[in-house]
Amino acid sequence: MRWLGSVTNAHASCLVKLKAELGMEGRVEQQRWLLLLFLVVQLLLMGAFLYQNRHHHSFTSFFHFLIQERPEGREELPFLVQISPPGIRYQDVYSNLSQIQPMDISEEDLPNCPIISPYINGPLKVMIPENLTMEQVVEKNPLVELGGQYRPPDCWTRHHTAVVVPYYGQAQNLQHLLFHLHPFLQRQQLHYAIYVVNQVNNTAFNRGKLRNVGFWEAMQEEDWDCVFFHDVNLLPEDDRNLYICDIFPAHVSVAIDKFNYRLPYRGYLGGVFALRPIHYLRINGFPNTYWGWEHEDDDIAARLKLSGMLLSRPHLLFGRYHMLEGQDPSHKQSPQTPGLLARIHRRWRHDGLNSLGYRLLSKEVQPLYTNLTVDISPPAPGAPVTG
Ligand SMILES: *[C@@H]1O[C@H](CO)[C@@H](O)[C@H](O)[C@H]1NC(C)=O
Ligand SMILES: *[C@@H]1O[C@H](CO)[C@@H](O)[C@H](O)[C@H]1NC(C)=O
Ligand SMILES: *[C@@H]1O[C@H](CO)[C@@H](O)[C@H](O)[C@H]1NC(C)=O
Ligand SMILES: *[C@@H]1O[C@H](CO)[C@@H](O)[C@H](O)[C@H]1NC(C)=O
Repeated sequence: MRWLGSVTNAHASCLVKLKAELGMEGRVEQQRWLLLLFLVVQLLLMGAFLYQNRHHHSFTSFFHFLIQERPEGREELPFLVQISPPGIRYQDVYSNLSQIQPMDISEEDLPNCPIISPYINGPLKVMIPENLTMEQVVEKNPLVELGGQYRPPDCWTRHHTAVVVPYYGQAQNLQHLLFHLHPFLQRQQLHYAIYVVNQVNNTAFNRGKLRNVGFWEAMQEEDWDCVFFHDVNLLPEDDRNLYICDIFPAHVSVAIDKFNYRLPYRGYLGGVFALRPIHYLRINGFPNTYWGWEHEDDDIAARLKLSGMLLSRPHLLFGRYHMLEGQDPSHKQSPQTPGLLARIHRRWRHDGLNSLGYRLLSKEVQPLYTNLTVDISPPAPGAPVTG
């Protein structure tokens, strides 16, 4: 709200000036001035309103387009762009980041970050060095603080994004994700942190519930204004894919290399999903009751619909991802079960954030992430309720 503050100041000094001048003019002049003053105030208010809107959605909203009800039978987005615009070179995700240096002034005196980060280039090379170790990843990211949190050291940012990664033992994928995602987010000049939600106990993977846990735990720590739920095996390929929230929940991973850079099917909502906390509460989070690798896309789509929200998706050129090899929890296709929507309709208000039960076994602050280890298994029937 810094900017609005400065508007009011400018506005006030303008008023003072106008008042001083009013005293010297005649009656007719006075009326003319009043009219002018009225117009100036209107313009300022309108400007402030537009600016605020703009800074909330920043420039992604130009590239996001809304989807509502897509006509049946259209399995893909209306266009498919595979090539990058000419003239833009693929950059190493770490290039230029060494230019970022802490400034020798107090936090309050930092200048605002520019609306568009100067480090944003476009397409990125996805290259993981051979025999990479976690120590090397830490070394490459000297400005990341414990717990995997980062703020631009040289400017004041208005974007605060938590990245929640459901995790089920894919250690190498996680290392590669950290290697790539940290510099990716630093290029965008965000304040961010990475939370890994580690499911233990030998039950089936439950991505929805792990997402809920991650959201809950992340919000205890900071007043995040945007939460990105991120599969561990997806690396973004274009830094114009901004990790900030839009006015609607967003399905972000729309173009994955494994699916030839298009949606595998119409209702696909897996991979990377982002929304504001207020929207998360409105849909009552994600379902807790989907166990196994089965996807809960239909459920999430129904939640958005039943809570009256649209879904936003980035441009196919920007929402590009490389999928890492390994366990692939999220990308099985399953046809919609008949009657499912009706069941969701009855259930979604009772299955989600408000029915979330888990035990936090540990919270470890690692150099590049916060490790939340949770037992999310439903209590065995008849077992005494603990924790
Ligand atoms: C980033 O680095 C590239 C070369 O790697 C250079 O051409 C470009 O000008 C740099 N951009 C900025 C913003 O410094
Ligand atoms: C990676 O490790 C393998 C086996 O330990 C070794 O043969 C190879 O030379 C290493 N590569 C690099 C780039 O260090
Ligand atoms: C899950 O694992 C934790 C620690 O490994 C153990 O204390 C707990 O009893 C387990 N819970 C269930 C339901 O098996
Ligand atoms: C997270 O912490 C648990 C408990 O200490 C540990 O077993 C697990 O390996 C850790 N996972 C990661 C990814 O650091």
